[in-house]
Amino acid sequence: MDEGVLISAPGKVILHGEHAVVHGKVALAVGLNLRTFIKVLHTRDNAVLLNLPSIGSKLTWNVGQLQPLLPSFKGGHEPVSPRSEQLDLLRKFAGFSEGSQDTESQAVLAFLYLYLSICGQWTETELKLINSWAFQGEKVIHGNPSGVDNAVATLGGALQFQAGQITPMKRVPMLQILLTNTRVPRSTKILVAGVKDKLLKYPSIIEPVLSSIHAISQECQRILEASSAALSIDQFKVLEELIDINQHHLNVIGVGHPSLDKLCQVTASHGLHSKLTGAGGGGCAITLLRPDVDHSVVEAVKQQLVDCGYQCWETSIGAPGVTLHSSLSLPEDIINAFSNV
Ligand code: MEV
Repeated sequence: MDEGVLISAPGKVILHGEHAVVHGKVALAVGLNLRTFIKVLHTRDNAVLLNLPSIGSKLTWNVGQLQPLLPSFKGGHEPVSPRSEQLDLLRKFAGFSEGSQDTESQAVLAFLYLYLSICGQWTETELKLINSWAFQGEKVIHGNPSGVDNAVATLGGALQFQAGQITPMKRVPMLQILLTNTRVPRSTKILVAGVKDKLLKYPSIIEPVLSSIHAISQECQRILEASSAALSIDQFKVLEELIDINQHHLNVIGVGHPSLDKLCQVTASHGLHSKLTGAGGGGCAITLLRPDVDHSVVEAVKQQLVDCGYQCWETSIGAPGVTLHSSLSLPEDIINAFSNV
């Protein structure tokens, strides 16, 4: 194998507006300084190797095996939505059962769909194209995405997103957060569908909740953009209140989970404020780390969350978008992850 290229994209969190964004409201999303790396290498033996060390998946296909699938995947410059018969074909090809929803089959399906659609036709690497293709990958995984996740993973920074319209935020003060994974698996597709059902069943009850989430996103953006330097403690207090109110709203629209309630209790017992981020129903949460919070408090919270079986990362928001790295700057852990390819 030759040296290839290393590309990374930031992790992301939604500060406010998840679920509401699917219904045309504003969401605020930020890139995280926790990145996902992809190393693309030439192989000598005409094989396509997919190695996803973080989910323990390593698969190999011969180009010859993939060739017959190509006529069903005409991609090119215009990203095209995945069709159900294409996904059925890929599930059959990869040996996944019908309707499989586990992380490995979702990731492999999205990879094969994008690989076969883009394969041999990639002539430009504009962010717009990457973003549009990433959106199609999102559709493979959860059906009817708003597009906020692929947009922030591609562009990074801090974005206001509404009805497909992306507006980078004017400035984002340096904010430290704790990202916690409850390790409770969930399906974004099912959770998004659940919110839609509730909205259809109780429009006059749920619509005002979504409008309130919209107003929370706007207020959060106003505070973040208003400060030329660091936020004042009073501004942090408002951000914390917004987090609490939104977490209650997300419970109201049915995307909470006992693991998230527990997480909020643990952090609240140390004076910190948390909300779920993304689809909810388990998954991840963010906790705002005010600059006046002593590091020993953060360590104690992390320990308590780890004791609950959760995973924690202390990180900051506003990370750069998709990046092509020079191989000289490969981080050590990434070199190790790929050393067995
Ligand atoms: C998932 O990260 C965010 C949701 O709002 C879904 C979406 O926007 O596509 C729940």
